[in-house]
Amino acid sequence: MAILVTGGAGYIGSHTVVELLNTNRDIVVLDNLSNSSEVSLERVKKITGKTAKFYQGDILDREILRKIFAENQIDSVIHFAGLKAVGESVQKPLYYYQNNVTGSIVLVEEMLKANVNTIVFSSSATVYGDPAEIPITENCPVGGTTNPYGTSKYMVERILEDTTKAFPQFSAVVLRYFNPVGAHSSGLIGEDPNGIPNNLLPYISQVAVGKLQQLSVFGSDYDTYDGTGVRDYIHVVDLAIGHLKALEKHQDDAGFHIYNLGTGTGYSVLDMVKAFEQSNEIQVPYKLVDRRPGDIATCYSNPKKALEVLGWKTERDLNQMMKDTWNWQKNNPNGYKG
Ligand code: NAD
Ligand code: UFG
Repeated sequence: MAILVTGGAGYIGSHTVVELLNTNRDIVVLDNLSNSSEVSLERVKKITGKTAKFYQGDILDREILRKIFAENQIDSVIHFAGLKAVGESVQKPLYYYQNNVTGSIVLVEEMLKANVNTIVFSSSATVYGDPAEIPITENCPVGGTTNPYGTSKYMVERILEDTTKAFPQFSAVVLRYFNPVGAHSSGLIGEDPNGIPNNLLPYISQVAVGKLQQLSVFGSDYDTYDGTGVRDYIHVVDLAIGHLKALEKHQDDAGFHIYNLGTGTGYSVLDMVKAFEQSNEIQVPYKLVDRRPGDIATCYSNPKKALEVLGWKTERDLNQMMKDTWNWQKNNPNGYKG
């Protein structure tokens, strides 16, 4: 039996495909390459010595989904495919809802027709909005999202929950990621953002490699220990392994299952700059500027449920995150573009 990985050529998807291939699972990837490159899958092959079967196509395209389910013995789907730029989602809400929400509906409809009854979905801590309590447990209220990207994640969660109620054989696992960073220790795969990065670690590493002049630290007057925003950064390989654990536990385990995937520790923006500098012995010039609209002060997880039920916890510390980020960046200054 094989696992279909939608969005498997992307950042988190490619790292998860490596871990899946390492456990000898048969993998089929569907990706439209709208935010990725097929080179990532060639690199996955280099790392694992194994090949994932690749279909270039869209989750909105029923024909290709039917073809994949007909040609392969798929028993579960890990669903990464989606658009993820918060700012762009404000400019192009219909595009985001179409891709992320309609795309997920089409995928689930075709899964049900093909009698494929397990899905693991990439959600985000963004569904908690400005969180009711810190650290955030899975029981915290959700839905107070402030942009179409976040709302699309919340909507898909609800759609999956309702689907498990209507189809008693259906198992949906929602994984709420905190802030994924880092790269595979080989330096062969990593995050390859288009244009100027929105996220902190890609920005820091592009400053370090000399592509950008200095980091702007968005806000130094938050109610945090040094005034800058605090987040729960998680190594992408730990995150990838979380998907394997979720699948192990909930394959054909009908119902709706939710987990936070984070470390449980919050670091500030200035902590991250200092850690990058210390781990890699390289300076990262920065300036303090105004807050970025829509940002919250503090967001970190209580990851206890994933430990208790899945037996999963993070194993890679901040130093490892920083070293692996830099190893990827310095070996691939232009990402997969060579
Ligand atoms: P990514 O952009 O690197 O990967 C997403 C992949 O999906 C890309 O390869 C893209 O080409 C593909 N894709 C997009 N729309 C598609 C479609 N309609 N059909 C087929 N393929 C499509 O992003 P990532 O960081 O690897 O994120 C993976 C998932 O995790 C996304 O759903 C994202 O929203 C979610 N997530 C990411 C973060 C983060 O900070 N990186 C945090 C929380 C949740
Ligand atoms: N930051 C800066 N300068 C930058 C970029 C970020 O100071 O150039 C700060 C932000 O203000 C924030 C922290 O660094 O305090 C982290 O910012 P990111 O953009 O890396 O991450 P966010 O926590 O804002 O957002 C991430 C994902 C979203 C997701 C959200 C909640 O990018 O997709 O987590 O899960 F919705």
